[in-house]
Amino acid sequence: MIVLGIETSCDETSLAIYRSAQQNKKPSILASVVSSQINIHSPFGGVVPEIASRNHIIKLEPLLKELLDKTKLSLKEIDLIGVTNRPGLIGALFTGLAFAKALGYALKKPVIGINHLLGHTLSAELIYEELYPPYFSLIISGGHTHLFFVDNCYNFSLIAKTVDDALGEAFDKVSKMLNLGYPGGPHIEKLASNGNSTSIPMPIAMENSQNLSFSGLKTYIKLLVNKNCYKPEDIAASFQFTVAKTLFKKIIINRKKHNIKKLIISGGVAANNYIKNYLREQLENIELYIPPPRLCTDNAEMIAYAAFKLFGKRNFIGLAESAYDKLPSMFY
Ligand code: KG4
Ligand code: ZN
Repeated sequence: MIVLGIETSCDETSLAIYRSAQQNKKPSILASVVSSQINIHSPFGGVVPEIASRNHIIKLEPLLKELLDKTKLSLKEIDLIGVTNRPGLIGALFTGLAFAKALGYALKKPVIGINHLLGHTLSAELIYEELYPPYFSLIISGGHTHLFFVDNCYNFSLIAKTVDDALGEAFDKVSKMLNLGYPGGPHIEKLASNGNSTSIPMPIAMENSQNLSFSGLKTYIKLLVNKNCYKPEDIAASFQFTVAKTLFKKIIINRKKHNIKKLIISGGVAANNYIKNYLREQLENIELYIPPPRLCTDNAEMIAYAAFKLFGKRNFIGLAESAYDKLPSMFY
């Protein structure tokens, strides 16, 4: 089966083709193309939804051509289309969805709407071939900081979540306070590598709760920055260290309650090497599955693969199907 994945939920226009196992060939991603809008949004210090939608529309068709050139496939060879239909910026989601529906209609091929968080979770399965649910999935991205239990039919149950900011959002805001660029994560990580991570003690919010909170830490850092007497690299390093410690603590608290043995950590913040290494070193007796940075941030590979995994449910979408900026209530 040849599956086309389309991802336009935020500021990356991404398309990828997944090919399932064939006689002598292992399943694999045949190619993936991404057009990042970082340079377009960075002067605004964040994603401007209207601009994101307009750029997706411009990029989708040329990216599809590029993908077909790379894979030497023709449109007719596509068997299935997967498209992110929730959650995300609604206008941005609509562009990918409309493109997917038009292609599906023209090619007479089924289209499956993919939950972006299922995509982030499954990005780990693309790398770890022996990984199957049930498992736990911690998603740390620009829009989410949520821990789920995923059963063997890929049904999600919420275990814990941030009560305020998502972790990626906190990285982006702290980056802005330090006059670094957007998106904040990679800038903070780079600056932090020159700083002392234990130089500025920072609080862990709701320390004994299963849930997370980052808005207090953000305010704390704002006060430090305003004092003008700390080195930005020490602030960045101490922030990153506090985040790593927080995640560690929360995983331990939730492990006690839910007997977590297999844990996927994905989403943009999981691309952070410092956090990844800290968790790998500190967490014992837990199987950790963290995809490489390319698959942690938004990508269409995870969407193509998710569509393949969901094909058996035959839950295809029709032309009247909409996109949704939020997830259904069971996710919150
Ligand atoms: O998963 P993602 O690409 O998009 C969403 O679904 O939100 O995550 C984007 C977030 C941004 O907030 C960005 O600052 C953060 O991931 N991020 C990082 C790193 N790379 C991206 N955070 C920390 N360290 C990184 N290296
Ligand atoms: Zn994402």
